[in-house]
Amino acid sequence: MLQKITVIGAGNVGATCAQRAAEKELADVVLVDVVEDMPMGKALDLCEAAPVEKHDALITGANDYAPSAGSDVIIVTAGIARKPGMSRGDLIKTNAGIVDTVVKQAAELSPDAILIVVSNPLDAMCHVALKASGFPSERVIGMAGVLDSARFRFFIAEALQVSVENTHAFVLGGHGDTMVPLPRFSTVSGIPITELLPADKIEALCQRTAQGGAEIVGLLKTGSAYYAPASAAVEMAEAILKDKKKILPCAVYLTGQYGYNDLFIGVPVKLGIDGAEEVIEIKLTDEEKSALDNSAAAVRGLVDTLAELGF
Ligand code: APR
Repeated sequence: MLQKITVIGAGNVGATCAQRAAEKELADVVLVDVVEDMPMGKALDLCEAAPVEKHDALITGANDYAPSAGSDVIIVTAGIARKPGMSRGDLIKTNAGIVDTVVKQAAELSPDAILIVVSNPLDAMCHVALKASGFPSERVIGMAGVLDSARFRFFIAEALQVSVENTHAFVLGGHGDTMVPLPRFSTVSGIPITELLPADKIEALCQRTAQGGAEIVGLLKTGSAYYAPASAAVEMAEAILKDKKKILPCAVYLTGQYGYNDLFIGVPVKLGIDGAEEVIEIKLTDEEKSALDNSAAAVRGLVDTLAELGF
């Protein structure tokens, strides 16, 4: 029997997570949404693709949490998506209420699961999920850095006309305009991009990465990105379910690392069967640290807003 992933929210990100996880035969997938019958429809459609896609993962749709019981990983995508002109922060009130409700219900039936939070504003929603689940903090992980790094990697590959597979990139900090792409640790076949591209071009790529979500929102006009966010969430789920000990940038609850306390923020983390097993602390330059401080302050502002809203 395969392991079980529950995806909460069967919208664009959620349904694409289900598709990617099933096509990798990573786990059976339970897709939960409040919209009547819709998750059952998407699940059946995905199951009917299975013979052609050649996998035996079972996808089940549900309007309640009973089929999610005993999940190994729960991916939380429920919420509203951004429209043009909205920042991720604008979603806070609506999505905090949704994330609180869905996490409480799901966590009760899957007390040993690892939560991957995707709903925005990401870092703030991780705080809501941590509290609502009552899970130890290493089992609540936010998806942000993998997506932001993937965007940065694509832009690097495009600029240098090399394979995306040759690229590595690190983006730390909160999942917002203040995120901190780290060119020193971003490489092509191990060569730092600082050796391969002029400083002004690197700065432009960093800017485009920080605005990557808004660029897609501006083009789609009716919602936000979902193919790459789903790929990123499923890469994290795979690292956890296969106990790969993969080091990825993820939003995790810091207890003093990098000088921050009681705050979710994106840092390099080792992902394995126990969740966020270790935060990797790298030495930052003064400039990098002050950019990370700025990003941490932005996340702290959202967490304060949550407190005012009663979360
Ligand atoms: N329980 C379950 N599902 C819910 C609930 C709830 N209480 N409230 C809303 N949903 C569902 C909606 O019915 C919808 O199907 O969440 C789904 C969200 O899907 P989309 O509107 O397509 O949004 P999507 O693009 O998937 O983004 C979801 O991920 O990247 C983030 O910023 C994005 O916060 C947003 C989230």
